[in-house]
Amino acid sequence: MTSKTFKIEHKGDWSGMELDCLFSDELIQKRVLELGQQISHDYVGAEKPPIMIGVLNGSLFFMADLMRAIDIEVEMDFIKIASYHRAESTGTVRLIKDISAQITGRDIIIVEDIIDSGLSMNFLRRRMLGNEPSSLRVATFLYKKEVSKLQEEPDYVGFVIPNRYVIGYGLDLEQQYRQLRAIYAFRDEDLEKIKEK
Ligand code: IMP
Ligand code: MG
Repeated sequence: MTSKTFKIEHKGDWSGMELDCLFSDELIQKRVLELGQQISHDYVGAEKPPIMIGVLNGSLFFMADLMRAIDIEVEMDFIKIASYHRAESTGTVRLIKDISAQITGRDIIIVEDIIDSGLSMNFLRRRMLGNEPSSLRVATFLYKKEVSKLQEEPDYVGFVIPNRYVIGYGLDLEQQYRQLRAIYAFRDEDLEKIKEK
């Protein structure tokens, strides 16, 4: 059973903060199975297996679960990027590790943990399209729809969430808490306290 809250124990100013569970392990697994079935259905009969491209590090668990929920042949690869956001429109994205697959003429599915500002996804989409895949779709586990500025809507979405900072199922706070099986959200008033410091 997933607990309703998660408490940060020892982590500087974050210590003692309680987070609320948004999606339990059970609910996540159920939703990922549905997405897997949908993808299997959409690509059945494809000439070559689609290539799922996971965005490191956050997509690790979503990628693993989603791929095993798909019952057609698929291939996988990974890309790693870092994004910096200052003011809303002036973020930059840096490539840290590129894919090794040849994607020209192939069906591509980008697999992301979360779309927040949309900056990373806009960058990834542009980069992938530069190599002329035969098709390009996006699967994201979480989508902060109300704050994202995307050039195109994602094709497969686990859950749309409000603009709250979340951890678990691959998502981190300063590289920690990725292994939590459920998704937990910080309370806005706690984040305000951190910003004020
Ligand atoms: P973007 O703002 O859409 O470019 O999001 C870039 C990346 O920031 C995501 O792929 C995540 O790795 C990270 N991120 C955005 N929102 C959250 C969150 O609520 N929790 C943890 N990581 C996040
Ligand atoms: Mg990410």
